[in-house]
Amino acid sequence: MKTNDPLSGVKSRVLKVPAYSLHAYEAEIKLNQNENPFDFPADLKEEVFRRFRVREWSRYPDFVPDSVRKLLADFAGWRKDGVLVGNGSNELLQAALMVLVDNGTKVGIPAPTFTVYGLIASILGAEIIPIPLDPDMRYNVDEILSGSAGAGAGVLILNTPNNPTGSVISNDDLKRVLEEFPGHVLLDEAYFEFWGHTALELLEEYPRLIITRTFSKAMGMAGLRVGYLLADEALVSEISKAKLPYNVNQFSLTAAEVAVENRERFRPAIEAVLKERGRLGRELGGIPGIKVYPSEANFFLIEVPVDPRLLFGDLYRQGILIRDVSSYPMLSKCLRISVGTRGENDRLLSALRAAVGRRMPGGPEGARESI
Ligand SMILES: Cc1ncc(COP(=O)(O)O)c(C=O)c1O
Repeated sequence: MKTNDPLSGVKSRVLKVPAYSLHAYEAEIKLNQNENPFDFPADLKEEVFRRFRVREWSRYPDFVPDSVRKLLADFAGWRKDGVLVGNGSNELLQAALMVLVDNGTKVGIPAPTFTVYGLIASILGAEIIPIPLDPDMRYNVDEILSGSAGAGAGVLILNTPNNPTGSVISNDDLKRVLEEFPGHVLLDEAYFEFWGHTALELLEEYPRLIITRTFSKAMGMAGLRVGYLLADEALVSEISKAKLPYNVNQFSLTAAEVAVENRERFRPAIEAVLKERGRLGRELGGIPGIKVYPSEANFFLIEVPVDPRLLFGDLYRQGILIRDVSSYPMLSKCLRISVGTRGENDRLLSALRAAVGRRMPGGPEGARESI
């Protein structure tokens, strides 16, 4: 019988997963997406425009953007044929999972972590094995091994530094995981520049390791959507089958080219974020009732003494947007705050101090709403 239900035929596993969507809040101070508070340098933007202007817009970009791959290979210290360029690192993560995950494949995913992993894997039919972090939000290698090797997983996803906790996994621990887990390990290094460490040195010895990185954070290019993947050449050629042709547009490729050629120009912004991270962490930790989890990334996870949703709203009404992560596993009392400029962080700190003081038991709006 004919049905007009637009959802009939949509896979049930797709209907089951919650959409990954961000409400489009407008705010003067944006500390909700772990972006770089310092924009792409203005003179380098001009250089991108200069190069892009003379390129033919009527032509497709390169099928395989070889010159950018070569630049990225030198930049990362890996072989060109082991590099894949994507429309953001999320696209590459999706392509890798499309190649590795079949209906019923078990995929180990830390909890809590970046929600996109679970979303893509679930749509592909994976059985998700959540790997809980410690109560202090650190990776626990024994838990990782029981959620991967022990659970018969085919794929393990790890994020270091981990969003939203800021915690990391050392190369020694990762090596132990790679020794004992026989499947593929997808390591998302989106924030590695803020940590200053990478697992790249393990790629040669462990060709089941896949590293993804992005230009969206330290390189200040979130709006242009460029990411890259580093892996064994044979694996890269399989993963490239799952990505759409011409996936990265000519403009973004040009910007990536300019960014890589001028990589040293991005250091001062990274240094400024790191300096502010130290200060912001100390100041947040000094607010009564707030617990700050140590972070190696450009954001902090904080546990707050009152309902985080109320604090989120208090800050938002003052033009400060942070991330309410209270619906994530283990984070019902938590918020995530990106490190901004010094001025932005000052505004955040004073608004947060005031809001917590007001809502704490004993404060003017206390008791009733505290959790
Ligand atoms: C852990 C992690 N990976 C990847 C991304 C997104 O990367 P891209 O912009 O390259 O798709 C984010 C963005 O917030 C992230 O937190």
